[in-house]
Amino acid sequence: MLNKTEQTQVISLIKKTRELIYREMRAARVTIKGAADYVTNVDFAVQDFMKRELELRFPDIRMIAEEKENKDLYSNARYWILDPIDGTTNLIHHYGLSAVSLALYEQGEITFGAVYNPFHEEFFYAAKGQGAYLNDRQIFVDENVKFSDAVVSYGSSPYDKSRAKKLFPLYYRIFMKAADFRRTGSAALDLCYVACGRQHAYFEQDLKPWDYAAGSLILTEAGGAARGWDGGKLPFLTNADIAASTKTLAEPLMDMLCEK
Ligand code: IPD
Ligand code: CA
Repeated sequence: MLNKTEQTQVISLIKKTRELIYREMRAARVTIKGAADYVTNVDFAVQDFMKRELELRFPDIRMIAEEKENKDLYSNARYWILDPIDGTTNLIHHYGLSAVSLALYEQGEITFGAVYNPFHEEFFYAAKGQGAYLNDRQIFVDENVKFSDAVVSYGSSPYDKSRAKKLFPLYYRIFMKAADFRRTGSAALDLCYVACGRQHAYFEQDLKPWDYAAGSLILTEAGGAARGWDGGKLPFLTNADIAASTKTLAEPLMDMLCEK
């Protein structure tokens, strides 16, 4: 576990990426990684900066990150899990919903998570057992909402369109039972938005560890539930299908996701 001083150090490091992101965006260069999958100079600049600065302060902790090869991972080790930019498509189109997402994985669980959207000046963070915060104000899920009044956000698995045929009928079934749908384009922010009560549920298939590690701790520390579509614990070192919601909506959401 990071102590308070270390948490403060890491938080101020992440906040420093704001200037870097704005500077790199002035001459943004986009590279196509795969179908609907992009990376920019901004992603690489943030990753290089975070890796260098964290290595200086925490030389014993290795990093797992989106824009690098992640080999030989051991469940009993400690890792930083970083998405330098979650919501890269949003960043390319100046949508304002992108975030730096950093988690600390220790022996099977996430003990610290931070999600920072520099475009809205919103800093979400949580440490295990210490609650979740948005810009230093403690946040909680909104438990007073039933499914028919819920704002539900979904991820469309844009990189694997072969899933769409099954997913869109599922979206339809859930949409008909909820108040409305959202699609933010950032899994990390989706989890934080459930944590602070802007949304009440969120689901997506096949997320990478860096998409969900930090946000899922922020959500559970805010009183919510984050688990796999099979109801199991999240793995954190491998991809997962995520079902996230308030505690009240966890069962109804799970039933809908498993409905054939
Ligand atoms: C993506 C975003 C998006 C989600 C994708 C993620 P990226 O992350 O979180 O909302 O639908 O599954 O991969 O590529 O922008 O870091
Ligand atoms: Ca990313």
